[in-house]
Amino acid sequence: MPKNIINDGRKLVGGTSDGTSGAEGRPVHSRAGNKAVSRRDFIKGVISSGATIAAAGYVSQVPGASRAWAASPGALERLISLKVNGRMRRVDILPQETLAATLRYKLGLTGTKLSCDRGECGTCTVLIDDVAYYACTTLTHSVRNRSITTIEGLEGPSGELHPVQKAFVEELGPQCGFCTPGQIMSAVALLKANPHPTRDEILVSMSGNLCRCGSYDHYFKAIMRATQGG
Ligand code: FES
Ligand code: FES
Repeated sequence: MPKNIINDGRKLVGGTSDGTSGAEGRPVHSRAGNKAVSRRDFIKGVISSGATIAAAGYVSQVPGASRAWAASPGALERLISLKVNGRMRRVDILPQETLAATLRYKLGLTGTKLSCDRGECGTCTVLIDDVAYYACTTLTHSVRNRSITTIEGLEGPSGELHPVQKAFVEELGPQCGFCTPGQIMSAVALLKANPHPTRDEILVSMSGNLCRCGSYDHYFKAIMRATQGG
């Protein structure tokens, strides 16, 4: 009989007729005991455990399951209040949810863009208490009781553009425009902290915002223009 065929004709993975596994000759045993298992038995086990996991996922979505989770010791509250663009917003969030996801997908503030989603490009920049942060690496839970400003929050009372936005338009800053909201938020944060930055201070402050279109000179000139009152 071929060495990898057992008595009832089923194949073992690299196994032998005596229930050992291939070159090293170790038995293929189940965890429950010393009984040799076939590949078919193994696959059956995987499928049944997968079904158990899938069922667990289903059960976790039944009404009451989230309440049980929320009531467990150390659990974070899911329904929280966030101050965004001067308004208090109630929002249901997950423990590991990022501010970028909350703003875009829960609050509909899609002016905050998501690109790398790993703190490298600056596309998602927003202000938290007037300081520029990457929203994609900020957990929403961590910014309760803070003041969040997105690009939508720069609009004046009559819908007019913020002076930095006007300067970006004047200097033809945006090319594709995808990075522009993040660039503007970083520039606004800079000018709030330092209304008259030097060239080097602008370059350092804007170094966390990448532009695939290479519009850096236009953005730089726009910020210089904004510091001079447009
Ligand atoms: S999307 Fe947040 S830094 Fe790139
Ligand atoms: S304008 Fe296109 S990525 Fe900056």
